[in-house]
Amino acid sequence: MKAQEIKKDFPLLLKRDIAYLDSGATSQRPIQVIKAIEEFYEKENANPHRGSYELSVEATEEYENTRAKIAKFINAKHTEEVIFTKNATESLNLIAYSYGMDNLKKDDEVVISIMEHHSNLVPWQKITKATGSKLKYMYINKNFEISDEEIENKITDKTKIVGITHVSNVLGTINNVKKIIECAHKKGAIVVVDASQSIPHMKIDVQDLDADFLVFSGHKMLAPLGVGVLYGKKEILDKMTPFLMGGEMIEYVYEQETTFAPLPYKFEAGTQNVEGVVGLGAAIDYIEKIGYNQIQELEDEIVSYAKQELSKLDYLTLYITPNSKNHSSVISFNIKGVHPHDVASILDSEGVCIRSGNHCVQPLMRFLDIDSTCRASFYFYNTKEDVDRLVHALNKTYEMFKKYINK
Ligand code: ALA
Repeated sequence: MKAQEIKKDFPLLLKRDIAYLDSGATSQRPIQVIKAIEEFYEKENANPHRGSYELSVEATEEYENTRAKIAKFINAKHTEEVIFTKNATESLNLIAYSYGMDNLKKDDEVVISIMEHHSNLVPWQKITKATGSKLKYMYINKNFEISDEEIENKITDKTKIVGITHVSNVLGTINNVKKIIECAHKKGAIVVVDASQSIPHMKIDVQDLDADFLVFSGHKMLAPLGVGVLYGKKEILDKMTPFLMGGEMIEYVYEQETTFAPLPYKFEAGTQNVEGVVGLGAAIDYIEKIGYNQIQELEDEIVSYAKQELSKLDYLTLYITPNSKNHSSVISFNIKGVHPHDVASILDSEGVCIRSGNHCVQPLMRFLDIDSTCRASFYFYNTKEDVDRLVHALNKTYEMFKKYINK
């Protein structure tokens, strides 16, 4: 299957004359996902787990079948290890507030990387300050990678929690999470993997990785906005206290005390985003139908072409590792002397959608000694024409600005 054919499944890409290069922020949705949501509302809409009538039972089945589907998709050992959340950010906050708050003591250490998204950074600042523990960073080398040496130096006997993004949302670097997990486990620490930027593009096997926690958002992998997943090992989740309190997460409620429901419900307070869950199930069906092998093949072709064409533009600075096997589908760049927001605006006028700014990773920007970047992020529906449009629009931008740059 060619990207051009795949594009036909994406109504927005057919209706709008754009080169959509911001899938790292949110992907487009295939018609199969849109239809699944429509069908849910037309035939099955009710509040799951709340009613004993047939419609509510059906909604419950749909919701729980999707949980089982996700467990299989990421190869979790137990279905109840999959918790539905709003997004990866909520999943990470849940881990920090529940596991972090209960398990960190004074002088313990939490180790994260300098390329973490604020969602896997700010909660750890809050929790380490509250518990008197310390927050340490694994830094990147000149290839924008975390070296084995850095991993071994930073993860020590004092480390209790390691937080790592599988793929950087700015650099596209694929981190060696297996090595990080092995190293952390040797020291008795647990590892939280942020798979938001990896699961849209590559197969995730939580048992093979031996991740203690792994989180992702649906909306970057063809599913609706507002649904996310927290995976956690059952033996760890069982011991954790709930993060959000309310309906359905309880067992018995007395005037002064409450006992909590078993997994996974103790972490799912209140009415859930069932339409999001249904859409996520349909997105997984779609990814499995295309297959990760084909997704990667298509993306390799388009990202290699983009790298080749962007490298020819000598006015660009690219922020990508030269080791292509460690690089995913994100290319950050700057036009020397032009603010990324200006670049993005001019690209927009040419129908090219990219993201500009600090991408919710201010510490990484500071480490790289820049304020912001332009970022083109690709998915398997992108075509060479999208790349050509990007290059054309960049050349136009440079032509407009060059007299000011060279002054
Ligand atoms: N975290 C998303 C991104 O990197 C929004 O664009």
